[in-house]
Order: sequence, then C-alpha cells, then structure tokens
Amino acid sequence: MEQYHIPVLLEEVMEALSVRRGGVYVDATLGGCGHSMAILRRLAECGGGSLFAIDQDAEAISHAQTVLEEDETVREALREGKIAMRILKGNFADMGGLSEALKASGADGVLMDLGVSSHQLDTPERGFSFRGGAKLDMRMDPDGEGLTAAELIAQASERELFEIFRDYGEEKFARRIASAIAESKKTAPVDTTSRLSEIVCSAVPAFAKARGGRTVHPATRVFQALRIAVNRELEVLRKGLQAAFDLLRPGGRLAVISYHSLEERIVKHFIRGKLGKCICSPEMPFCVCGAKASVREIFRKPAVPSEKEVSANPRSRSAKLRVCEKLA
Ligand SMILES: C[S@@+](CC[C@H](N)C(=O)[O-])C[C@H]1O[C@@H](n2cnc3c(N)ncnc32)[C@H](O)[C@@H]1O
Repeated sequence: MEQYHIPVLLEEVMEALSVRRGGVYVDATLGGCGHSMAILRRLAECGGGSLFAIDQDAEAISHAQTVLEEDETVREALREGKIAMRILKGNFADMGGLSEALKASGADGVLMDLGVSSHQLDTPERGFSFRGGAKLDMRMDPDGEGLTAAELIAQASERELFEIFRDYGEEKFARRIASAIAESKKTAPVDTTSRLSEIVCSAVPAFAKARGGRTVHPATRVFQALRIAVNRELEVLRKGLQAAFDLLRPGGRLAVISYHSLEERIVKHFIRGKLGKCICSPEMPFCVCGAKASVREIFRKPAVPSEKEVSANPRSRSAKLRVCEKLA
C-alpha cells in the first residue's frame, strides 16, 4: 500500500496529550490515521479508553478502516471492547455537534493536525497540486456543497481573486496574477491545475522566478491561497478551536499542529486569549478587566520537528505544535 501520510511530531503529540487509562480523546483530523493509531495503541497498553476520530474526507475514513484491520493489537483490543473508537465524518468546526456521546462525555485531549494529507496532495484528481493536469477541485470534502476551486475562480471578480492571493497566499504578485487570470477567463475557463499554473508562471516576473535559485514553484502560494478559500480553512479553524476547547474537561489538553503563518497566528492568539493576561492600562491602580486564565500553556514555545524528522519527511518542515491545558 502507498504511504498515505506520515504523522508529524508524533512523539511530541503523544507527550502533549498524555494519554491515560479511561480517557476520552478526539483526533479531529484523522487523515492517514497515524496519530489515531498511536493513541489507540497507548490506550490498549494502559488499560482502555476511547477515541473519536473526525475527517471531512470520505477517502480518509475508508482508509482508516483498512489500517485498523491491519494492526493486530488495536484490532483485538477493539474486538474485545478494551478500547473504543468512533469515526465521524464531518467538519471539526462542528466537533461538539457530530456525536451526542462525545458531547455528553467531553474529552481529555483533542488533536488538530491542520491542512491536507500527503494522499490528498498526491492524488492528481483532487486538484490540490500544480503537478499534473487535473480539474481544479481542492475540496477536502468532495461530497460537500462547497464550490470547487474552478467554480470559485469562475465566479470571483478580479478584485476578489487579488484579495484571496494577497490575504491567504501572502503572494507578492497577487495583483498581476489576478489580472492575468481575469484576462485568461475571457477566452476559456481556468479550470485545470496545469492551466492555472501556466498563467501564474507567465504573470510572475522572470527575475522573481529565477531569483536566488528560487526552490519554491511560483504557483505554490496561489494554490495554497485557493485551497484555504475553497475550504474556508481560517474560519473553520477559529470555530474548531473554540469547539475543541468547549469539549475539553478540566485538565484536558488541546494540541494543534499548524503549517503556515496564517494558521499559526490564529492558534497563538486563541491560546493567548485564554491565558487571562490582564489588558488594563498600566495607569489603572487595580485590574478592572476581570481577566481570568482558562488555560495554561504546556510548551512555552511551539514544538518543531527535529532535523532528523525533516530529512525523513520534508513535508514536516514548517510544522509547529502548540499545546494548552484547560484549567478547572
Ligand atoms: C494533515 S492531515 C492529518 C494527518 C493525520 N494526523 C495522520 O497522522 O495521518 C489533515 C486531515 O484533516 C482533514 N481535515 C482538515 N481540515 C478539516 C476540517 N475542518 N474538518 C474535518 N477534517 C479536516 C483533512 O481532510 C485531512 O485528511
């Protein structure tokens, strides 16, 4: 079987979640099942517990069924009822609403490993990668009602495309690229990965393409921006963080792995906002803002992959893990 996805910062995640007997855990981004399997194995070793695993991609869910069958320890522990696992299809923004049982029990740990899996990226028909000439889809949930990237490009104005590339891709040439796409749309739809990639390459000035032996493909940021827009990633991340926090029992931990600065900023601010730092003016003789901490940070700085991990799995290179614990 092809390697579906290599779990990132696996040891650090397991340390952060501190999985214990009888605990209830949520893997909000099942993907290739790597982190989920580690949690299940730990639960089997320590005497039982349960895992709820969420993904909005039906392919990830059917892959997980195969992986669970292949691991003897986990398969037997599940069969004997020592551990329990429920797989839920849906968006983590609605974590608490996906299962009555989960809502009722609450969780001792929630993991969110953001973005797409290697399998999604490497399957040309999903349209996430500029390599290959597939339809521009990019939906993590292809059964859902959201627009594909091709539909979004068709419907968006030049201004809207510019804002997507500027805000979600932090793309320096956002204006030129949006203008080139708007011009190309007049003759034929921009609906394949190869056509979009060609338009971007022709719009980015030659010096920028060549500069300093640029190793990043000129279309990388544009593809990232469209993916974020198609899946409303930043909006669902904000909702998902709050939904995860609401599910946590006191002492429960939230671990989030982000892969780019936009996600990382949202996670950092979410945690900071719950640390209860006083925001009163220094001139105030006493605190009037009523700041009260509802979490404590477990790692003072985000954990990042070791050189060894990055050389074994280059896709882990930009990962940052932040962890907090809900206070009583
Ligand atoms: C980086 S992969 C997770 C990999 C996984 N931790 C592993 O070890 O194999 C992210 C997965 O989360 C899913 N995903 C991303 N955002 C989601 C969301 N808002 N709701 C549900 N699933 C989401 C994607 O479909 C993808 O399968």
